[in-house]
Amino acid sequence: MILCIGDVLSAQALARVRETLQTSAFRDGRDTAGWHARTVKRNTQADGRERAVQTIRDEVDQAIAASSLFQMAARPKRVKPVLFSRYEPGMDYGSHVDDAVMGQGAEAMRTDIAFTLFLSEADSYAGGELITDTTAGEQHYKLPAGSMVVYPASTLHRVAPVSHGERLAAVGWCQSQVRDPAQREVLFDLDTSRRRIFSEQGKTEDFDAISKSVANLLRMWAEV
Ligand code: NI
Repeated sequence: MILCIGDVLSAQALARVRETLQTSAFRDGRDTAGWHARTVKRNTQADGRERAVQTIRDEVDQAIAASSLFQMAARPKRVKPVLFSRYEPGMDYGSHVDDAVMGQGAEAMRTDIAFTLFLSEADSYAGGELITDTTAGEQHYKLPAGSMVVYPASTLHRVAPVSHGERLAAVGWCQSQVRDPAQREVLFDLDTSRRRIFSEQGKTEDFDAISKSVANLLRMWAEV
């Protein structure tokens, strides 16, 4: 399941993030790529050691955590703090798969889900689509600023070359309580259905029955 979530960041938060990134130092993006992805990664990333970058990173992390759609789709157990990436004309990120395990020791986590939160206005740069390689063919994503795409980290994906302007994005990964993407999708469908029933009809018998199923499936599938 690939899900696009709109308005994760407010216009004010977006302005703060973009303003901070304008004066932040950026480093070669290959510093954080696996050995094979390094060969095709051509971008830069904000230096996470800077205090100002840490502040906006916390703000973005909190906004993502506050999204009920993200919670329902990802069922996060651990979420890696976002990285801020920048693509200028001529930069791209060739086809790759993300590392399955990131971090070391107590910080180590399995990457079940990846996400990209777009920070630049879509019409302010040319190219820069996130392209996922699925069995149904390639899917292209270039979302409005403040929106994000959430996709299985198991997919091959790439970022198309930027030919004009600047593409800023926050990227991150999470380990899910529910490892299997098909099981996550069943839970997401049931959860969104019961919320729709609740908002339209209240706490009906159908709502209670689906709620019971969501809870009992989670008991079967969740790793906590
Ligand atoms: Ni990637």
